[in-house]
Amino acid sequence: MKVLTVIGARPQFIKAATVSNKIRKNNNTEILVHTGQHYDNNMSDIFFEELGIPKPDYNLSIGSSNHGHQTGSMMIALEEIYLKEKPDMVLVYGDTNSTLAGALCASKLLIPVSHVEAGLRSFNKAMPEEQNRILTDHISDLLFVPTLTAENNLKAENITKGVYNTGDVMYDAINLFKERAKKMSNIVEKLDLAPESYILSTIHRAENTNSIERLTSIIGALSNCNEKIILPLHPRTKKFIQEYNLPIGQNVTIIDPVGYLEMISLENNSKKILTDSGGVQKEAYFLKKPCITMRDETEWVETVNNGWNTIVGSDSNKILDAIANFNPTGNPPSAFGEGNTSEIITNIIQKYIG
Ligand code: UD1
Ligand code: UDP
Repeated sequence: MKVLTVIGARPQFIKAATVSNKIRKNNNTEILVHTGQHYDNNMSDIFFEELGIPKPDYNLSIGSSNHGHQTGSMMIALEEIYLKEKPDMVLVYGDTNSTLAGALCASKLLIPVSHVEAGLRSFNKAMPEEQNRILTDHISDLLFVPTLTAENNLKAENITKGVYNTGDVMYDAINLFKERAKKMSNIVEKLDLAPESYILSTIHRAENTNSIERLTSIIGALSNCNEKIILPLHPRTKKFIQEYNLPIGQNVTIIDPVGYLEMISLENNSKKILTDSGGVQKEAYFLKKPCITMRDETEWVETVNNGWNTIVGSDSNKILDAIANFNPTGNPPSAFGEGNTSEIITNIIQKYIG
């Protein structure tokens, strides 16, 4: 079989790291297309190098721009490649503009689409990710949902055909790379961090960065808490912090975005995690770290329902309260599959194509 995979943003590299090698192991052909949505070394190349992701066959170098321009440019370039490569299936991940462009372009050419991480919903249509997810799910032929909640979300939209509850590829990824991170990453030593002496934070959601009120409130809370904060900063957020001229507290150490092995290592040694990232919320759960989510809702409701994630929005007082008082106990129950999701997905695609 010939599968064409479209990736372009940081979390998609990590997800593809688990599936791409599985597809290729079975003597199939995978054409890997990088849209170039993320392009800085520490947002892109580092993941290919550290995680052994095959080199992309095509890099579209689309870069950053407004949504329509970015998504449309991807589609123009992808169409040419699809027509030339004639894949049996196009495989997309998650909810970025690269996901939607990859799926929509395939659907128009009547090429079957597989969507990994289907069925997630925040029920907030102002999020570009929510728009991308809904549209992608409605044109996908195989929908790999990570959780029962995601399966039920699809049912509520009358999507039942081609839906498989496979578990979450990010659970595979952390299992696959956790030991390598322990051996290879020295970031904790480099930053001179004692175990469980700091809170790890990430911020990049458009709803937080594009609003001066929300970003001011979040950075204010980070700067005024009595904790050491390590903040690997997404370039989007860096740009807005500079633009809004926001002061940063002495307790906050800003570092450049890090590779996945460094990130797992920073997560694993932290005492709590403070984030607006989808993937990081799940990793906190996998690593048994209390997670404070700076959003008004989450797609990953299991992490909240099972007591290991709390939703605080961007309100300074709520963030500070959770930093001081959110202390779950016990063990997070398994909610994201068995760690063999990439194999299950590969087998289903293979069977579908025949
Ligand atoms: C995108 C996804 C988001 C995902 C995130 C993962 C969409 C709509 N959003 O958001 O769902 O959670 O990736 O990290 O697809 N930039 C750089 N260098 C880079 C990449 C980006 O400087 O390598 C800067 C540019 O100023 C750019 C901004 O970051 O305008 C935003 O990048 P973009 O890919 O548009 O969105 P993300 O916020 O990264
Ligand atoms: N991540 C990383 N380095 C960083 C920040 C995040 O490797 O500096 C990883 C993180 O561990 C997770 C993924 O990137 O696996 C999450 O991506 P991001 O937060 O950019 O996007 P989201 O998951 O919210 O779509």
